Amino acid sequence: MEQTLVLIKPDGVLKKVAGRIISRFEDKGLKIEALKMVWIDEELAKSHYEEHIGKSFFQRLLSYITQAPLIAIVISGPEAIKVVRNLVGKTNPVKAEPGTIRGDLALDLESGNIVHASDSQESAAKEIDLFFSAEEIYSY
Ligand code: PPS
Repeated sequence: MEQTLVLIKPDGVLKKVAGRIISRFEDKGLKIEALKMVWIDEELAKSHYEEHIGKSFFQRLLSYITQAPLIAIVISGPEAIKVVRNLVGKTNPVKAEPGTIRGDLALDLESGNIVHASDSQESAAKEIDLFFSAEEIYSY
């Protein structure tokens, strides 16, 4: 079993599609091991997106991810990192295939791509640790 971190980003919360996004993961058979709503500050946002500091979109990314609360979820399952990213779809919603979360529920990068999903085991471990303490994650 593998763990991954999913964020339903502020635009997903504001659009009131959080329940539908969570259902996609549950419908696939993946397990929710931890879940909470959190309004992150710039410090946490910078830690989470540390590898993108200095990129042209970084300031916009910071404002976007701190504009309202988000929902952080630890999801587990066989090859969960790859399976979740396949369900989420391509970064730019314009290019995301229909049937994926971004392909169906998001319009473009300008208005937001509604979900984050860890892209490697290394980032999953780091990101889960940023958002959750060990006691908040349930093995069952
Ligand atoms: S890169 O340079 O290829 O590594 O960047 P990429 O993986 O495409 O994107 C890194 C994260 O930044 C988000 N992103 C943006 N957010 C807002 N506006 C713009 N223009 C933008 N471009 C990229 C992108 O969604 C990635 O965040 P996550 O949370 O992983 O989706």
